[in-house]
Amino acid sequence: MNTQLDDFFEKVITVKWGPEKKSVDIIDQTLLPGTIKRIQIANKEDLWEAIKKLRVRGAPAIGVAAAYGMAVLSNAMPEDDYDGFYQDFKSVKDYLATSRPTAVNLFWALNRMEKKVLSMKDSTVSEIKAALYEEAQAIRDEDVAISRNIGEIGFSLLKDLKTDGEELGIMTHCNAGTLATAKYGTATAPMYIALEHGWEGRDMHVYCDETRPLLQGARLTSFELVNSGITTSVQCDNMASLLLKSGRVKIIFVGCDRVARNGDAANKIGTSGLAIIAKHYGVPFYVCAPSSTIDPNTVDGDHIPIEMRDPEEIKSMWYETPMVPSAVDTSFNPAFDVTDHNLITGIITEKGLCQGPDYEKSFRELGIF
Ligand code: MRU
Repeated sequence: MNTQLDDFFEKVITVKWGPEKKSVDIIDQTLLPGTIKRIQIANKEDLWEAIKKLRVRGAPAIGVAAAYGMAVLSNAMPEDDYDGFYQDFKSVKDYLATSRPTAVNLFWALNRMEKKVLSMKDSTVSEIKAALYEEAQAIRDEDVAISRNIGEIGFSLLKDLKTDGEELGIMTHCNAGTLATAKYGTATAPMYIALEHGWEGRDMHVYCDETRPLLQGARLTSFELVNSGITTSVQCDNMASLLLKSGRVKIIFVGCDRVARNGDAANKIGTSGLAIIAKHYGVPFYVCAPSSTIDPNTVDGDHIPIEMRDPEEIKSMWYETPMVPSAVDTSFNPAFDVTDHNLITGIITEKGLCQGPDYEKSFRELGIF
């Protein structure tokens, strides 16, 4: 029990039902940390835009938003017959799937909702609609439990590193926190669970990479951690090497958007560079991955599609005037990179800690696929 943490979780519920469950209610993450504003989404175009523009973001949260969206949007579909309903359902599902390509949770959640529809061919459409609400709720509730397990495993690693009376240096990249999930986050879960187990905020010192170009570390992770009472710093991404050399960081936790069968892990751009530096300085580097993020259909990192984003995110998005001359090309703007499994100390899933070099074997042993 940690009141400050509980209050914070209450304040920033990433995705919830809107009034009478007729919309999806999200916190608009593009406005954080300055403005906490919720928006209600009730049509497919707005949901697509919210995912694309990162109003809701982070792999598990995208999955929850898509599942909630399918429930709400299906509810408005005609009830005449199963085939007509399924056709409408499928067309919305296929449309939402085009919003972002890398996070496998989006497709995982949409497929799970479709499976529910397909399994109820003999039911009435109104029964199917009710079941879709339940399925979306289950996806959200499971995410809370999954993050909690990841947090417990991560916390056991923190306990091994903690020295009495000293703050423990932890580093993270991007935001794999409560804003990216239904509650605990993945990379932040060990810290939140530490608070629930009685650690104080000052027992830890979390170093957040600012995470260019969209600043998820600076805007979102530091906002979360400082509001939970944890000692928090933000440094520019290009300071990682000097920071790790200083010895202040004892462990690194990052999230992921898709893990291939061999353990290669796609996460926010800059993650693989951090992993390379961590290996050089001997800092343990853990990827926190709900099993829904581990994709048995992707053999290795070379097969993970990498989203390319708007060049203006680099050139002008966060500045009053553009920071790059207008004639200069900023079109190389990948949202993610892939960390080679050999650079990863371990992949923490809700089912247990997976270790390489044969991650596939480790995933199979834990029953992940
Ligand atoms: O582009 P974003 O902000 O959606 O990228 C998010 C990340 O890279 C996260 O680390 C990842 O989705 C894991 S969230 C638990």
